[in-house]
Amino acid sequence: MSAPDSWSIGSVLRWAAEDFAKRGNSSSRLDAELLLGHVLGVDRIRLVLDAARPLGAEELAAFRALIIRRRRGEPIAYIRGEREFYGRRFVVDARVLVPRPDTETLVEVALTRTRPRALYGRALDLCTGSGCVAVTFALERRTWRVTATDLSEAALALAAENARRLGAAWNTRFASGDLFAATGPGERFELVTANPPYIPAGEIPTLDADVRDFEPRLALDGGSDGLTLVRRIVEDARGRLVPGGVLALEVAYDQAPRTHALLEEHGYADVERRRDYGGHERVVSAVWRP
Ligand SMILES: C[S@@+](CC[C@H](N)C(=O)[O-])C[C@H]1O[C@@H](n2cnc3c(N)ncnc32)[C@H](O)[C@@H]1O
Repeated sequence: MSAPDSWSIGSVLRWAAEDFAKRGNSSSRLDAELLLGHVLGVDRIRLVLDAARPLGAEELAAFRALIIRRRRGEPIAYIRGEREFYGRRFVVDARVLVPRPDTETLVEVALTRTRPRALYGRALDLCTGSGCVAVTFALERRTWRVTATDLSEAALALAAENARRLGAAWNTRFASGDLFAATGPGERFELVTANPPYIPAGEIPTLDADVRDFEPRLALDGGSDGLTLVRRIVEDARGRLVPGGVLALEVAYDQAPRTHALLEEHGYADVERRRDYGGHERVVSAVWRP
């Protein structure tokens, strides 16, 4: 960006996309548009419509600062401070995992599985992170009470902020602690959801740099085979679900068969496996019928 006076929206976008692509970024054009849109406070369509508009020095300087952050691998969602999930904007930063589109499948399963009890219920979202699952469920099922928990108090503060911003404060509550220990021992739920950390510890060094170097390790590390937390949740949820209650878990693309078997071994019924947008079996759910 040596001659700022001559840059238009269109030309600076072309330049940034090429720069990202040269560095191996596979979503270079999209990233460039998301960052410039953030600087200018406009959406991507406006960038296309106003492609000929010249950019001022301050706008260019702000865009350049974001390009440098992205070149270092920082996720776009952290740079923009938000990520869309289930059609709503969630505030995100380095305290939480960036919500993934595949996790919308967990919400879909939770909604489908609880339809017979749509009028009232108590839901518990373990490992809530940004609160994307808990807050979305609370907004889609406004008559339910949703408890969201996480080991990370920093993550919970952000989840609570998302609930406030999105209008779910009144039917959500937030509690920190290790899985079910964050709730009272006598509490029972009609639904337990979780997208726990499920990456095998040994695979973490092989993850893409923007995940490995920027997202919280606590949100990724699922122990030696990735299923440490899944096993604990499957075991302990039995004492926390009402009869007929539903457990729905997001797991890695290759963990559904083992999770399915685990649920059956622990006496759950009606085990189902649902595919994500990429066709991977991503969400395993079951009913607790003692
Ligand atoms: C994969 S992230 C999921 C975040 C969010 N639910 C989502 O779907 O985007 C896992 C979350 O589990 C939390 N976590 C890790 N170990 C935990 C534990 N033992 N008890 C409760 N939460 C835990 C992490 O802090 C992190 O926020």
